[in-house]
Amino acid sequence: MKNSALRKGIILAGGNGSRLAPLTLGVSKQLLPVFDKPMIHYPLSILMLSDIKEILIILKEKDINAYKNLLGDGKQFGIDIKYSIQKNPDGLAQSFLVGENFIDNSPVALILGDNLYHGSGLVKQLKRANKQTDKNTIFAYRVNDPERYGIVEFNKKGEPSKIQEKPTYSKSSYAITGLYFFDNSVVEKAKKVKPSKRGELEITSILNMYLKEKNLDIEILGRGIAWFDTGTFDALHQAGSYIRTIENRQGLKIGCPEEISWRKGWISDKEFLEIGYKLGNDDYLEYVKRLIEDKTQDII
Ligand code: G1P
Repeated sequence: MKNSALRKGIILAGGNGSRLAPLTLGVSKQLLPVFDKPMIHYPLSILMLSDIKEILIILKEKDINAYKNLLGDGKQFGIDIKYSIQKNPDGLAQSFLVGENFIDNSPVALILGDNLYHGSGLVKQLKRANKQTDKNTIFAYRVNDPERYGIVEFNKKGEPSKIQEKPTYSKSSYAITGLYFFDNSVVEKAKKVKPSKRGELEITSILNMYLKEKNLDIEILGRGIAWFDTGTFDALHQAGSYIRTIENRQGLKIGCPEEISWRKGWISDKEFLEIGYKLGNDDYLEYVKRLIEDKTQDII
């Protein structure tokens, strides 16, 4: 097993989105709006903020043109985007089988296409996880309803002691969020995963393999961070109003891939402006112009 230096990223945008039907009958869930952007812009931004530039989007065959129209090959954002088809949505662990050739001998990060993260200190945590290419990092977040998620229990020393997928009762309030940084052994581990009772190749099976090897770091996302899994009507609405509230208050956008790229110096002022003109949205163009004029703001 060899880890080459640069981590690759995978966004999983397959799935039937049946909890959001009928919204998802004609449109892929991860293209639904979260306030002023398609949902996938948020996880894409998280990978970019982690300094990941080679990205694979896993999707359903019928959705491929819609995603290509939206994101293309990623050049406009100074990154490289590829696409792979997931024939049947058989669980998150399948991402590493579908993505095996893309991953090659690199470490990899997986983010779920419906997960949205925002808040203070997050970028530091992301960059740290990305840099540690021989380590495996997942992010846990305190929630009110842990039974809806994969959960992690901790022992007295604060080390992870147990990981379970959607337990009927959870002793822990810490959900495992949909962002995973793994070394290259994840591909071989994914091959060993057997379908669970609900018939899925569970990501928690992979996490348990790392846990057994004592090779799993848990980063806690603190109170200053918002995490949404936008797969239900309520969560979709909450995420949209959260983004609207902060964006309108600050006059800065959250989850804007071209802005992130521009701030990182991956695209020039001119290329950023071109995107502004191309969208044909006057308010958006004004936003781009304002950012370029006021370079003293380096918040992302
Ligand atoms: C999946 C994972 C679960 C994780 C959650 C985060 O659940 O299986 O471990 O906590 O994503 O969004 P799903 O939402 O696909 O049921």
